[in-house]
Amino acid sequence: MQMDEYRRRRRELMNMMGEHGVAVLAAAPEQVRNRDVLFPYRQDSDFQYLTGFPEPEAVMVLVPGREHGEYILFCRDRDPEREQWDGPRAGQDGAREHYGADDAFPIDDIDEILPGLLEGRDKVFCMVGVHQEFDQALFGWVNQIRARSRTGARAPGEYVSLEHLLHEMRLIKSAAELKRMREAAQISAAAHRRAMEVCRPDMHEYEIEAEFTYLYRRHNGEHAYPPIVGGGRNGCILHYIENSAPLRDGDLLLIDCGCELDCYASDITRTFPVNGRFTPEQRAVYDIVLEAQYAAIDAVRMGNHWNMPHEAALRVLTQGLVDLGLLQGAVDDLIEAEAYRPFYMHRTGHWLGMDVHDVGDYRVDGHWRELEPGMVLTVEPGLYIPDTIPDVDPRWHNIGIRIEDDVAVGRDGPDVLSTGAPKEPEEIEALMRS
Ligand code: GLY
Ligand code: MN
Ligand code: MN
Repeated sequence: MQMDEYRRRRRELMNMMGEHGVAVLAAAPEQVRNRDVLFPYRQDSDFQYLTGFPEPEAVMVLVPGREHGEYILFCRDRDPEREQWDGPRAGQDGAREHYGADDAFPIDDIDEILPGLLEGRDKVFCMVGVHQEFDQALFGWVNQIRARSRTGARAPGEYVSLEHLLHEMRLIKSAAELKRMREAAQISAAAHRRAMEVCRPDMHEYEIEAEFTYLYRRHNGEHAYPPIVGGGRNGCILHYIENSAPLRDGDLLLIDCGCELDCYASDITRTFPVNGRFTPEQRAVYDIVLEAQYAAIDAVRMGNHWNMPHEAALRVLTQGLVDLGLLQGAVDDLIEAEAYRPFYMHRTGHWLGMDVHDVGDYRVDGHWRELEPGMVLTVEPGLYIPDTIPDVDPRWHNIGIRIEDDVAVGRDGPDVLSTGAPKEPEEIEALMRS
């Protein structure tokens, strides 16, 4: 992402905050995996969105109208010894030169410097309740100013949630963000295609997972979330991430796997037969899910409300369950009674962006939100028929199908970012035959 893009975001946020506000936001803390091993570092999405600064132990402060610079970054000092072990740090010079900070200070000096930046401002815009330790530190800095009130120091009187302003901004993606998200989706789509090409009975779920990891890393991407690679009955477990079982001839394989690129996620699911040929039962259920997905994608249009794709999917899925003999009754009544729930227990999508389940309200003033250009969401209907649902003919058992694509709300209709991963059954079978 270009530095100009981050600058534009900070400007927009500061314009909304007004001249009496100050914003304070911390980088994500490092996370221990076990003993002295850390998880690979992933920046906090909000912090990344505003700074592009990739290091831990950093704090961003925005002070609109401040004469000596509005964007201040506290960050780690350069330290040749630590850098020998952990890699280079930007330091304060790097923060100014490469990350556009107007002013930069050592993170170790924050207790002395930050209260001075807050002083005289009315409102502190911050994320309360995300990192408890940082909340305590922030209250401490404000209290430091209060303690000096008799000398004329004026402490901010109000804490305002930064979340609301920032997450409304993040919900609408810029052209540069859409480009990145399309790239991430295209890498994932190519990997799903690859999985179909290599899959054979008696391979293991983890061997298929490895194909995705390989392709993502080849593009400097990583998994946006723990991949779900579930054969047969495992495909009916929504968050199955063990990925350790052998793949059996005659079973389906459900793969929910998406690449993250530059902190932007994709989220794609495909389901296909391990041996490359759908059975008539698998095909019957698959056709319903695919029709539901097309209907839902078609509802991703500006002016439609958030729930319309879900409603479109529910109608097709419920009708399909009736046609298969798995539900009895009138479709409207069955939808009203949520009779589909044993087979379809999740919603048809979520916002997608820097977080796989991205930020942004789904309702505004008590009503489903209207879709606007630049919003990106997933469309992911499914049907799951584990052998534990009572009174189901065993021929449907352990069929678990989900088809998921990433769709931007375009000015001219739905813009599917994740093209290239086959989902037409004939196309899947032809690819797997070759
Ligand atoms: N991969 C998580 C989801 O589909 O929501
Ligand atoms: Mn998914
Ligand atoms: Mn999803």
